[in-house]
Amino acid sequence: MGRLVVVSNRVGPLQDTGRAGGLAVALVDVLRERGGVWFGWSGKISEEGTFSPLREQSSGNVRVATIDLSETDYNEYYAGYANRCLWPTMHYRLDLTDFDRKFDEGYRRVNERFAARLKPLLEPDDIIWVHDYHFMLLGAQLRAMGVENPIGFFLHIPFPVPEVLTALPNHAGLVRSLLAYDLIGFQSTRDASALRRYLVEEAGADETSDGAMHVLGRKVHLDAFPIGIDAETFAGYAVSGEGQRNFRRLKTLLNGQIQMIGVDRIDYSKGLPERFRAVERLFEDYPENRGRVSFMQVAPPSRSEVRAYSDIQRTLEGLTGRINGKFSDIDWTPISFLTQSLPRRALAGIYRASLIGLVTPLRDGMNLVAKEYVAAQDPEDPGVLVLSRFAGAAEELREALIVNPYSIDAIAEALQTGIRMPQDERKERWERLYGRITKTTAASWSRTFIERLTDAAEHGR
Ligand code: UDP
Ligand code: G6P
Repeated sequence: MGRLVVVSNRVGPLQDTGRAGGLAVALVDVLRERGGVWFGWSGKISEEGTFSPLREQSSGNVRVATIDLSETDYNEYYAGYANRCLWPTMHYRLDLTDFDRKFDEGYRRVNERFAARLKPLLEPDDIIWVHDYHFMLLGAQLRAMGVENPIGFFLHIPFPVPEVLTALPNHAGLVRSLLAYDLIGFQSTRDASALRRYLVEEAGADETSDGAMHVLGRKVHLDAFPIGIDAETFAGYAVSGEGQRNFRRLKTLLNGQIQMIGVDRIDYSKGLPERFRAVERLFEDYPENRGRVSFMQVAPPSRSEVRAYSDIQRTLEGLTGRINGKFSDIDWTPISFLTQSLPRRALAGIYRASLIGLVTPLRDGMNLVAKEYVAAQDPEDPGVLVLSRFAGAAEELREALIVNPYSIDAIAEALQTGIRMPQDERKERWERLYGRITKTTAASWSRTFIERLTDAAEHGR
């Protein structure tokens, strides 16, 4: 069995330090299982940038190798093309894009440099697995350098319909580069169908009998591989150590009152202002909840060098102040807004102490918090998940209360339904949800992808 070489912008940590970001969390287990190399950005900015010496670290059979970025690279590739062009386009927010040719060039340059630095680390039997929107061009660049190993790509974020993607100035080139991968994986069937539609409508593709696509003289394999979590491990976090301590602290503090919880990076894709307004609407339309129900939002700041991100944090601070000012009592505050990151173990206890889990992104590739909230519940007295129809997780988690995250009334109504839901119904829904999230784990997800990748590389290029 060949080694696995994983490429992603953020690498590690190999231990769970509780840093936010779904991707890193899912990949650690996979690499440990198979052994291999994890290659990416060191998280550091230096003058030498991508020409810096390799920073290397080993833990068991996993070797981590990273390089720096220069300040220009950081601004053009990461803050520029990845987070001002691709992220908003992929999340259907063309109004927040900033298309600048310099970003384009920076993205291409950094992808090329990463390919060039990765090449000498490769062995002939390696399987290469590239992750996420930072490195969409890397596969094509490795091929141009003569690399023949299987190379797969997994997109952790949504893939938009052609009507939206075609607003990206260089969409044709970007998609053409994607075709160099042997297998392209998505979080949901919705995302996979969006690329299929693009290939047919914009590039004249034909579908083959095995579900692959013939396009521009190539055969390309694409499919949905919804990412999983280790539900049992996460359930364990909620009843031991830090998770259990947090659970007890909260239960004592709540003293029979009801808590609703949200956990998201501060990102405009997460539907946070709408969610805060829905909480306000709950107290307006169903006043019996005042003094009885509170909402906690854990929200680590993210990408704050990008204007749209710092703007949304300010909006949320304003909303929290306004809503708390309006409804607070001497012994009750409706909203706690924690702008810090908490370890996942700690979050598990907080989820278990919360009757409602609020996951209402306007768009999300998957949303791991939705699955983690379900995993952490007490089977005898589980809480209710309120889930956006636009999260990839909604394709699987059908027994959640599915809402339109743009409708403040609909979210407020779902909150009220959840608060009043009888225990029998909560248990019935939760059992089904738990059954669904235990079907896949992070390890089974990656095993499935790697098997399909090996197969695609052998049988059809
Ligand atoms: N997370 C964390 N601490 C925090 C907030 C989030 O460890 O304070 C973790 C969370 O448990 C989840 C991941 O970060 O595993 C977020 O993944 P998700 O898919 O929900 O959203 P993303 O941030 O990838 O858009
Ligand atoms: C999402 C993306 C990841 C990214 C993470 C944190 O999960 O899919 O690729 O690493 O957000 O964002 P950041 O910009 O801090 O890496």
